[in-house]
Amino acid sequence: MIEYRDIHKSFDVPVLKGVDLTVEDGETLAIVGPSGTGKSVLLKTTIGLIVPDRGDVLIDGASVYAGGMRTLVRVRRQVGYVFQNAALFDSMTVYENLMQGVPDAVQKEIGRDEVLRRVCRALEDVNLDPHVVINKLPAELSGGMRKRVGLARTIVGRPRIILYDEPVTGLDPVNSAAVERLMTQISSRMGVTSLVVTHDIEGSFSYANRIALLDQGRVAFVGSPDEFRGSSRPIVRAFADRQSAAAASMRMMEDESHGGSSESWQSEIAAAARR
Ligand SMILES: Nc1ncnc2c1ncn2[C@@H]1O[C@H](COP(=O)(O)OP(=O)(O)OP(=O)(O)O)[C@@H](O)[C@H]1O
Ligand SMILES: [Mg+2]
Repeated sequence: MIEYRDIHKSFDVPVLKGVDLTVEDGETLAIVGPSGTGKSVLLKTTIGLIVPDRGDVLIDGASVYAGGMRTLVRVRRQVGYVFQNAALFDSMTVYENLMQGVPDAVQKEIGRDEVLRRVCRALEDVNLDPHVVINKLPAELSGGMRKRVGLARTIVGRPRIILYDEPVTGLDPVNSAAVERLMTQISSRMGVTSLVVTHDIEGSFSYANRIALLDQGRVAFVGSPDEFRGSSRPIVRAFADRQSAAAASMRMMEDESHGGSSESWQSEIAAAARR
C-alpha cells in the first residue's frame, strides 16, 4: 500500500498543495489531470527523486523519508519507475539497458544465462523481438520502441510496485492497447501495485481499478471508472469533456495525415464540446 499524506511541493510557485491519496495493495490507480498540474512530481516523491516540502509518503506503513538514503535505496529496489521519456542510456545497447533493471546481487545469484533469458522474456512481453533489438542502441529505435524498452527494463527487475509516467503517450493505437493489456497482466500475474499517470482516460477505464483527478495541486476526485464516468461534479465533467475533445481532434489529425475524411471527426469534436 502507498499512502501520500498531505504532500506539498513548491518550485517557483506552489505545485502540490496537500495531496492525500492511498493506493491499495494490488490495485491499479490511474492519475489524470491537466498538463503541468504536478502528476510527474507526485510520482517522483514516491521514491525521493523529488522530496516534498511537507507531508510524507508511506509504503506498507513505513515512511519513505524517515530512514534517510538507506531507506530510499531499499524502497527504490522494490519500486519500478517507467519514465515519461523512457530515460534509456544512449551509449548502452538494449541488452545493457535492461541489465540496469536487474540488481547486481540478483545477477550474481541467477547467472548470465538466466539474466539473458529474463531480458528476452521482458522484451517479448512488450512486443519487441529480442533478436532484432537486443544489440541496438536507443538512437536506432523509434520513439514507441524506446518507450517499450523502458517498460521492459522496469519489469525485468520484478518490482512489487510500478509507477508508470504516461506509458502509452506517443504509441500508435495497436501498441497502446498492447501496453495497456500488459499492465493488466503484470498487475494480476505478479500482484503488482500500480500507479499510472496518463492523459488517456478512455484507455485507463480498461485497466484501472480507480481514477484520481489531480487539479490545482490537490486530488479533486477519486473513484472507480464507473464513478468517474457517472460523476456530475463540474470539475470532473469539465476535465473529461476537454479530454475527449482533444482526443477527437488528435484522431482527426491522424486521419487527415492518412488521407481519410475529416468530416466524422469534426462532428465528433462538436459533439464532445457540447457534452
Ligand atoms: N525539477 C523541477 N524543478 C523546477 N520545477 C519543476 C521541476 N519538476 C517539475 N517542475 C514544475 O512543476 C510543475 C508540474 O510539473 P509536472 O511535470 O509534475 O507536470 P505534469 O502534471 O506531469 O504535466 P504533464 O502532463 O505535461 O507531464 C511544472 O510547472 C513544472 O515546471
Ligand atoms: Mg508529467
